Amino acid sequence: MSALLLPGVVVVGTRVGLPVLAMATLRLSSSSSSSFFAYQQQKVGLTAAQRPPSSFPSPSPPLVVCSIPDRHHLPSSPSSGEASSGRISLGFCTRQSLGFCTRQQSWNRKLAVVAAAASVVEVGGGGSSSTISREEVVREDDPTNNVPDTVFGKIGLQLHNRENHPLGILKNAIYSYFDETFPGVFHKVDNLLPIVSVKANFDDVLTPPDHVSRSYNDTYYVSADTVLRCHTSAHQAELLRQGLTHFLVTGDVYRRDAIDATHYPVFHQMEGLRLFTQQEWEAAGMDGTALAAQELKKTLEGLARHLFGDVQMRWVDTYFPFTDPSYELEIFFQGKWMEVLGCGVTQQQILCNNGCAGTTAWAFGLGLERLAMVLFDIPDIRLFWSNDSRFTSQFKSGQLGTKFKSFSKYPPCYKDISFWISEEFSENNLCEIVRGIAGDLVEEVVLIDEFTNPKKGKTSHCYRIAYRSMERSLTDEEINALQAEVRQQVESKLKITLR
Ligand code: DAH
Repeated sequence: MSALLLPGVVVVGTRVGLPVLAMATLRLSSSSSSSFFAYQQQKVGLTAAQRPPSSFPSPSPPLVVCSIPDRHHLPSSPSSGEASSGRISLGFCTRQSLGFCTRQQSWNRKLAVVAAAASVVEVGGGGSSSTISREEVVREDDPTNNVPDTVFGKIGLQLHNRENHPLGILKNAIYSYFDETFPGVFHKVDNLLPIVSVKANFDDVLTPPDHVSRSYNDTYYVSADTVLRCHTSAHQAELLRQGLTHFLVTGDVYRRDAIDATHYPVFHQMEGLRLFTQQEWEAAGMDGTALAAQELKKTLEGLARHLFGDVQMRWVDTYFPFTDPSYELEIFFQGKWMEVLGCGVTQQQILCNNGCAGTTAWAFGLGLERLAMVLFDIPDIRLFWSNDSRFTSQFKSGQLGTKFKSFSKYPPCYKDISFWISEEFSENNLCEIVRGIAGDLVEEVVLIDEFTNPKKGKTSHCYRIAYRSMERSLTDEEINALQAEVRQQVESKLKITLR
């Protein structure tokens, strides 16, 4: 039974003993949630510093990007000259399950030997992996590229494909739900290359040209027309064009962001999409959009119950460029409302542009980390990347919701840095520098003081950086060295004046 609580908020299901009107929503992480696209609806009109590199003076030569329709244009042998330079084409997604990428991948595999001289990562699995060299992704001299080494180092790790990892366990629990509810129907894809075209990441899902998510400040650009995908929605269009009608796509996604316990520049999402035919909505005696919306809610409520038990839920109206109507599903969990996923009825234009005219569809996207953090009681998002056996040994395939037992808590060390900002200053750029120097030793970067000197017309920011290892005690010496390096790089790279 559902009861209307607030405009745009419907509560479904009840739970004895819980107050029905508890409204505070726990936003675990804006970055690993759908709100990245939702909340920024009005934040359009980019400043100079935010503008995406498409407006850069001299775009670099385009890379071959990982996009199915382009595969026919890729060289089918290394004769393009790339091999001799040790440069490996990014060209291919690893989609053995879809039957793609055969010839390209086989020479990519051979070329892995050449590339081994450089820094190389391997993407994919199941005998269909591709290799990517660092030079392809991190190009410090190229102004259209803003990918740091720390982020390149995450490509190919595919935490979601590790059976005993909390993200792999959660992914498989979601798969089980769809397999039990729709046996043999949903196609699963979890090894697509995260390097995609700007077109796939933004245009194909109707992201407006001036939407802030396209900005250089928010997204990692490999070149002017290639990005590290910032959401798994980047694969919707290509999979539709391949004729898939029911699919789940899981992958690592990349966003420039703040630093705290719930934000990390790389996290994982799962996207789902299901098409409906005219026959289906006629048989149901409904119009196509109404059927898609009804099925969407039924399916996702079932998923939330599968993961969280008999929880109270509510639907919140929202905005996404790719859906209309659009919703967020929230559950009342551990005393708070928590966003579980974003979803909606797919825009007709996406379906028509990709060979699916005359159909309707529902789609959803969810952040795996934000759900895994509450399901497994994992207090800090950095832990997902830990290779410490005190972390990894606590989780077993098939055991959703094992509660993480903190193995130790080492003390944090705080260091402040104050400077006069310039117009171009962005907090994400600061965080990028700190992350580049301190890696996973940085726990949080918080603005603790801000004031404007009216005489000088200048604004000062003071940030507090918390350094803490999840695995060991840090020495004063090493923290001082990190902080000195942060001060030096912030001054030289950010056009600020240290105070
Ligand atoms: N791509 C969205 C994000 O990352 C999540 C999302 C929302 C995906 C709604 C969908 C959808 O497919 O229908 O913020």
